[in-house]
Amino acid sequence: MAKLGNFPPSGDYAFPYRDLVNAQVLVTGGRGTLGNALCQGFASLGARVWSLDMSAINSNDPVNPLIQQRVADVRQRNTLVQVQEEIAQTEGLDVLINAHGLQLRSDFADCDEETWMTLTDVNLNGVYRCCQVFGEPMRSRGGAIVSIGSVNGVVVSGKGTPYGVQKAAVSHMTKIMAVEWAPLVRVNAIAPTAIPSGMTKDLFANQDYVRNKTESIPLKRTGTEEDIVHAVMFLASSASGLVTGHTLMMDGGLSLI
Ligand SMILES: NC(=O)c1ccc[n+]([C@@H]2O[C@H](COP(=O)([O-])OP(=O)(O)OC[C@H]3O[C@@H](n4cnc5c(N)ncnc54)[C@H](O)[C@@H]3O)[C@@H](O)[C@H]2O)c1
Repeated sequence: MAKLGNFPPSGDYAFPYRDLVNAQVLVTGGRGTLGNALCQGFASLGARVWSLDMSAINSNDPVNPLIQQRVADVRQRNTLVQVQEEIAQTEGLDVLINAHGLQLRSDFADCDEETWMTLTDVNLNGVYRCCQVFGEPMRSRGGAIVSIGSVNGVVVSGKGTPYGVQKAAVSHMTKIMAVEWAPLVRVNAIAPTAIPSGMTKDLFANQDYVRNKTESIPLKRTGTEEDIVHAVMFLASSASGLVTGHTLMMDGGLSLI
């Protein structure tokens, strides 16, 4: 029986993520800003991490023996299956974190078919494929799935149409899977506001954007990599053992007003 999935928390309040030590964790988008922070964070707990990304492996990056880098494209099921076949040679996966993503900003009227289809294939279909390929074995051994959604899947944001629709769909898929894959697999998501990253570097280079965004958030700050890693650790570990089908808002109150 796997350590994760449907288990009550230990009551070990000083170290609530103890069940993630030695867990096997796969992070999609693992060479992106948030994905890399998640890989490093879970490895720092002692988890064994598979980092999956379509981007090439940079041989100059420092090597962490707890993090295995793999190249795969979430649009191509066969590349995901190849990684899963490797994982199947081990004792299997405990946690799947869907942290890949692509943003091409457009409002509804101007969104051409190619943009819509490309974004859908990565942001929605990619999560569907990863859950089927990597999550299916968890149904018999137990596990936890956490997907990174977005506040843009909850509130309407300028030029955020296709991405927002896909992130909203990820939240609904999270609910469906939570019901269908219970009792052994818990499935949750987070919905962050803006965070400096590869995806948002153009936005954060604009001082007006940063000022206006910060001002619009009741807590008066945007997100950080650490915000994300803590929330995902909570949802992946038995500290959140009774939580499933939930999308955790991480928006400093933005969606409340
Ligand atoms: N940064 C933000 O403000 C923010 C806010 C809310 C949600 N998110 C979400 O957080 C997640 C991480 O994004 P980030 O901010 O770190 O951006 P990022 O651009 O730094 O990372 C995204 C990663 O996904 C990978 N990727 C893209 N398409 C892929 C594909 N087809 N197959 C495999 N990998 C692919 C990229 O190579 C990249 O490494 C995404 O799901 C994003 O939508 C980000």
